[in-house]
Amino acid sequence: MATLHVPLFVFSFLVSISSAEFSSRPGVNYGQLGNNLPPPWKSVELIKSLKAKRVKIYDANPEILKALQKTNLQVSIMVPNEIIVNISTNQTLADQWVKSNVVPFYPKTLIRYLLVGNEIISSTGPDVWFSLVPAMRRIKHSLKTYGITKVKVGTSSAMDVLQSSFPPSNGTFRSDISDRVMKPMLQFLRRTKSFFFLDVYPYFPWASDPTNINLDYALFESKNITVTDSGTGLVYHNLFDQMLDAVYFAMKRLGYPDIRIYIAETGWPNGGDFDQIGANIYNAATYNRNVVKKLTAKPAIGTPARPGWPLPSFIFALFNENQKTGPGTERHFGLLYPNGSHVYDIDLSGKRPESEFKPLPPPENNEPYKGKIWCVAVKGANRTALGGALSYACSQGNRTCDAIQPEKSCFKPDSLAWHASYAFSSYWSQFRKSGGTCYFNGLATQTIKDPSYGSCKFPSVRL
Ligand SMILES: *[C@@H]1O[C@H](CO)[C@@H](O)[C@H](O)[C@H]1NC(C)=O
Ligand SMILES: *[C@@H]1O[C@H](CO)[C@@H](O)[C@H](O)[C@H]1NC(C)=O
Ligand SMILES: *[C@@H]1O[C@H](CO)[C@@H](O)[C@H](O)[C@H]1NC(C)=O
Ligand SMILES: *[C@@H]1O[C@H](CO)[C@@H](O)[C@H](O)[C@H]1NC(C)=O
Ligand SMILES: *[C@@H]1O[C@H](CO)[C@@H](O)[C@H](O)[C@H]1NC(C)=O
Ligand SMILES: *[C@@H]1O[C@H](CO)[C@@H](O)[C@H](O)[C@H]1NC(C)=O
Ligand SMILES: *[C@@H]1O[C@H](CO)[C@@H](O)[C@H](O)[C@H]1NC(C)=O
Repeated sequence: MATLHVPLFVFSFLVSISSAEFSSRPGVNYGQLGNNLPPPWKSVELIKSLKAKRVKIYDANPEILKALQKTNLQVSIMVPNEIIVNISTNQTLADQWVKSNVVPFYPKTLIRYLLVGNEIISSTGPDVWFSLVPAMRRIKHSLKTYGITKVKVGTSSAMDVLQSSFPPSNGTFRSDISDRVMKPMLQFLRRTKSFFFLDVYPYFPWASDPTNINLDYALFESKNITVTDSGTGLVYHNLFDQMLDAVYFAMKRLGYPDIRIYIAETGWPNGGDFDQIGANIYNAATYNRNVVKKLTAKPAIGTPARPGWPLPSFIFALFNENQKTGPGTERHFGLLYPNGSHVYDIDLSGKRPESEFKPLPPPENNEPYKGKIWCVAVKGANRTALGGALSYACSQGNRTCDAIQPEKSCFKPDSLAWHASYAFSSYWSQFRKSGGTCYFNGLATQTIKDPSYGSCKFPSVRL
């Protein structure tokens, strides 16, 4: 009996390790940039109800890590961008971070990935870029010091680490980071058997060029549209594969064709601003359901350049997050609303048949908006902040605020909200073409209802 027992135990142990390592079921990104989100214990219940396999957070929030202790969810935590420079030169600091953020929760919480920073190349400057890999090495060393060997260290990169991505075989890392950041990073990832963590959003290249890129190709819906890479002859059936292979070829060019890719984020916005095309529930559901189907397929599908390679992944995101900055799409990537209800049906295990999903609202913005758009102050905006934004807008451009001076056509009603709305519209109409946005730290929003009245005409934007 005893001799039978031991091998059985070893066998099931091995099976659980390998299926955990290679499970194809996606995880979910649990971002917390909202002032209306459920508490961690409730959010963890919701993550389980989505049948996610893993969860990624953007810090090491102790309340969340505690709530995850009683689950089978594998967890990815993150070292904040702000302390990377200091950690890169100070082993004591790295040890302290691991001691206070990993050790108290490990191994009860199944921490498996530790990302050092979030999109460092996209969101910080050269001082942080060049500290990144040294910081990754120190964090790995700290984990070892505490006897923690199951946690892979990585960092998440966006597609802007590439300077060319088309055709995929032309994929090349940016020259300002290639030798000093990417090469040592790939060396580190190879040595530690870690992954290249990639944030990949076909939405953005499609939305910036919807006439040349087919929407169905971006949504994994195309049956007959293919792109052939003239360099390799490889045939692509969707934009996602094309983007992944561009990164693969960039790694290969530096001598690292063996590094595995981990999808750190992917998704599609379920809503956005009037000037943002294709951000709607129909497309978001279609993209996410299709990406789950692809990623959970057995055997693994991989990409044209790496057929059969598993692609572990996290979908972005758990919730719509109302405090994310930037264009409206940023606040609309959730699978769930903050109250926990589904934006659309989705099953991350990929097992629920599509016929069981409730019908989707038809997409209404898959073409650019054709009318005029204005930019106005949001209701209930902080008056101090609004005054500052008004002064800023008026200080930009040509005669931006002439019409709201005393006795001019838009002076009345003489209110802060009215004047700010005029100034925002006037500013945006002059600067949208050169990248100006209708956001003003959340004080402004787009509208298709003309605010003009009487002889006061508000400047507007047409796409
Ligand atoms: C980094 O270290 C410097 C020097 O010790 C210190 O002044 C600074 O506050 C630290 N930065 C952070 C973000 O901890
Ligand atoms: C390294 O970090 C530790 C812990 O925060 C701090 O006490 C020490 O002063 C730092 N060393 C240097 C050289 O900045
Ligand atoms: C390959 O990328 C380079 C830039 O790195 C670009 O100049 C060239 O046009 C690209 N080749 C093709 C076929 O697009
Ligand atoms: C793909 O098929 C659709 C529907 O059958 C057709 O309308 C479209 O023209 C085809 N596109 C190409 C590029 O063949
Ligand atoms: C949850 O929020 C969404 C979006 O605001 C709303 O449409 C839905 O009715 C809410 N559901 C519940 C149960 O309150
Ligand atoms: C309003 O905005 C000002 C300036 O940005 C800020 O200092 C203040 O804390 C804000 N007040 C509230 C209630 O948020
Ligand atoms: C302001 O006017 C100048 C001169 O006509 C022009 O060159 C500039 O582009 C204008 N600026 C904006 C923001 O329209």
